[in-house]
Amino acid sequence: MSSDLFDKFQSVLDQHARLPKDAKDPFAVRMDEVHSQTEATINGKRTILVGTNNYMGMTFDEDALKAARDALDSFGTGTTGSRVLNGTYSIHKQLEATLADFYNTKYAMVFSTGYQANLGILSTLVGKDDYIIIDADSHASIYDGCALGTATLMRFKHNDAADLDKRLGRIPEGAGKLVVIETVYSMLGDKAPLAEIIKVTKKHGAYLAVDEAHSMGIYGKTGRGVVQEMGLEDSVDFIIGTFSKSVGTVGGFCVSNHPKFEILRLVCRPYMFTASLPPSVVASANSAINSLRHAHNLRGAIWESASHLHGALKDAGFNMGTSTAESPIIAICLKDMEMTVRFWSGLLERGVYVNMAVPPATPSGLNLLRCSVCAAHKPEQIETVIRTFLETAEGLGIKPSETHPVAEA
Ligand SMILES: Cc1ncc(COP(=O)(O)O)c(C=O)c1O
Repeated sequence: MSSDLFDKFQSVLDQHARLPKDAKDPFAVRMDEVHSQTEATINGKRTILVGTNNYMGMTFDEDALKAARDALDSFGTGTTGSRVLNGTYSIHKQLEATLADFYNTKYAMVFSTGYQANLGILSTLVGKDDYIIIDADSHASIYDGCALGTATLMRFKHNDAADLDKRLGRIPEGAGKLVVIETVYSMLGDKAPLAEIIKVTKKHGAYLAVDEAHSMGIYGKTGRGVVQEMGLEDSVDFIIGTFSKSVGTVGGFCVSNHPKFEILRLVCRPYMFTASLPPSVVASANSAINSLRHAHNLRGAIWESASHLHGALKDAGFNMGTSTAESPIIAICLKDMEMTVRFWSGLLERGVYVNMAVPPATPSGLNLLRCSVCAAHKPEQIETVIRTFLETAEGLGIKPSETHPVAEA
């Protein structure tokens, strides 16, 4: 009899057993009904959603809904094939043209998720003799893209351009080098020092890929993200993104001006060997991306709500993940896991849903309540969220100042 294949999960099982009762079931939050971008009935209770990635509120955008319904009627529920076989419809081509136009790039390639976009691009672009250098706090899809590929992996300290410089300097002359960063990090909502990272990347002749998952739609004059906001579009080689956040549906992509980019369609396995996106998804993504260009009012609404929420919680004494609102992600760092679980449950009981994020899923072992603001939040909802934070703290006998110190290590 061979050994139990599940033995290797024992440490995870042990860690799970030590979790407080309310945190044991990761699927305890059940969306019974979704009323709008900002409200749902969760486990039978009407609840304000302030823990989604629906930053621009596109999930209920009228044009996107109509486009999805029309595509369903015209093309059916799915393609039943990969892009290189029977899964390329006219609307997939149209979506790629829309993306290239949106980002003002020559090429755009659509994947079935953002996870697969990172998996595909990062595992394919760099090979056996190359180096891939990533921010230590990178998303799992970036780590998994490295693991699927054959390049040598190096990590640099989070948002530390000097450390990146040091590591790039150790790579043998002539080797291929790809640096990968996110422009906004999903847990704390902090932004990358993009200009410094570009400077170091250029100094060492490396390519740069940026994941704009949490930035698309929100920053920049036409919503292209942090790279556009900072006027650095000519210095980035590949932009990777997702439709599962500001675009309000599912899917991923990579855009680039590299003259040989199109060859990736024939060599990138996570692109070739999976079914293409269903027509309704493609059509709603296409519609939402077009809307993002002109969504100045929605961008304004996000920043108003984000600064207000951040300012009010900070003024109340909570330990914030960033000193100002750098993104729609407003994180509160709590003292330890037990306090985080109790606080999160208390908010939910009072009708406010935020994300609970605890180690090992968080950077630096932080215990977080991760709020994220949606353009569709009404000022009254943000006031309710702030009030509920204060009431929950009081109900649990926790002073906001007691939520410090930051790290549990
Ligand atoms: C930075 C980052 N990249 C990629 C992804 C994956 O996106 P998707 O949900 O489309 O698979 C995420 C999703 O959480 C993310 O935060």
